[in-house]
Amino acid sequence: MAQVLESYVGLQWGDEGKGKLIDEAVERARAENPGKRTVVVRYQGGANAGHSVYVRNEEGKLVKFVTHVSPSGLTNGADVAIGPQVAFNPIAFAEELESGKKLFGYDGRVLISERTGILMDYHKKIDRWYEEQSGDNAAVGSTKQGIGPFYMDNARRTTRLTVFEWASKRFSEKLRFILEQKKPELEAAGIWYPNYLEELIAQHDQARKTLACKVERLEYRIREYLERGDNILIEGGQGTGLDVDMGTIPDQTSSHLLAPHAFPGLGLPRREFRIIGVEKVYPSRVGKGHMPTLDIGEFGNSIVEEAGEFGATTKRRRRVGYPDWLYVKRSAMLNDCDSVIITRADNLQNRDVKACIAYQLEDGMQITEVPLILDGVRPVYLKKMFEWNLWDGPRDLSKPEDVDAALRIHRQEYVSKGFDSLPEDLRRYVEEHDSFVGVRTIGVSIGPARGETVWRK
Ligand code: IMP
Ligand code: MG
Repeated sequence: MAQVLESYVGLQWGDEGKGKLIDEAVERARAENPGKRTVVVRYQGGANAGHSVYVRNEEGKLVKFVTHVSPSGLTNGADVAIGPQVAFNPIAFAEELESGKKLFGYDGRVLISERTGILMDYHKKIDRWYEEQSGDNAAVGSTKQGIGPFYMDNARRTTRLTVFEWASKRFSEKLRFILEQKKPELEAAGIWYPNYLEELIAQHDQARKTLACKVERLEYRIREYLERGDNILIEGGQGTGLDVDMGTIPDQTSSHLLAPHAFPGLGLPRREFRIIGVEKVYPSRVGKGHMPTLDIGEFGNSIVEEAGEFGATTKRRRRVGYPDWLYVKRSAMLNDCDSVIITRADNLQNRDVKACIAYQLEDGMQITEVPLILDGVRPVYLKKMFEWNLWDGPRDLSKPEDVDAALRIHRQEYVSKGFDSLPEDLRRYVEEHDSFVGVRTIGVSIGPARGETVWRK
């Protein structure tokens, strides 16, 4: 019996499969630490995140459930908590809780930090307006969930709206004050109109009623979980390459998403936790922005189609590249990773897989550090290629629910036989990856559903 204290963070540009792994971790935590509660905490970002989790319904059929605000523990009946650094859209959150209740009778405990900032309708509208202003070329291609404008307001004393104020009687008075501060900007963007304040207040009516009782002094409540021996799983949104300071500037998101950043905000001790970096075997990226190993040829395009690489939030087609060990090595360092889990190994079957181990600058110089400016940087690959074949079967994996039945047997066989039963080239890939990146891979995910991860001793 052991308390499970883990933090999951993406090592690339998001969509590495954290949602699925946390969903699995909840199950594991329950088995390893029976009789205890499990809470999953979201600590940054907002509805720009999209976690797709495949869960089996009563008939054993795979159904897709997407969350944007809630941590993925929702799909598993775990308790869920929203930390103070989140860009919190309470209306979207209340809807997710509601559909969790309807779909699978969710009845976990919900905790929201009283300090968390509220993301309002005008943040989304300003986000959209900024992008229209900057024109196609300069536009980051944000998720238009208001994340950038939110964090700007949240950092400013006069425009920050905390969950505590939002849930209290002071809400309308505070919002009136904030709108006065923001009026020039809202007018310029064509957002302001005479009844705007009243409409905003009405929009929040229902969510305030349902969520007010869940507002907590979170740092103390989470500490109680720790001290009772309960399980705590911390869930990062996005991926290291999108971090506001350490990502690929200027095409990054607006939050501090590195795993160590969560601890001070939650009042939890880093030393008690295992930080797990989640790495998709090939990187992907939505929107504009550098990805040094991007492939716009057969490799990248076929993966997009076969693996269904379209955004959970924006539905945009993702861009895909070859494995970039150099980038991942830096991400693992920044996040202070204790271990790595590699996901989607099934999607790279029967292909020549090459791994980037250095970058070449425009002047021909080769470097083994990730520079700030990635313009013109070209990947240098390990000479050796890898090719693995896990099973013969349908290659089009874009609709996991359809191919699930055919492949489930193969997947379960690997899961039960363990890491050593995987194809030799995949094992070699993992070993060489680990010696380059400097962190040990503890699991390889070979399917989209819960329980389809092969663990390594
Ligand atoms: P924002 O976070 O909406 O401001 O978007 C900034 C950039 O980060 C855009 O290129 C987005 O597509 C990207 N991004 C934001 N959140 C995610 C995510 O959860 N997964 C993948 N990309 C994301
Ligand atoms: Mg996502």
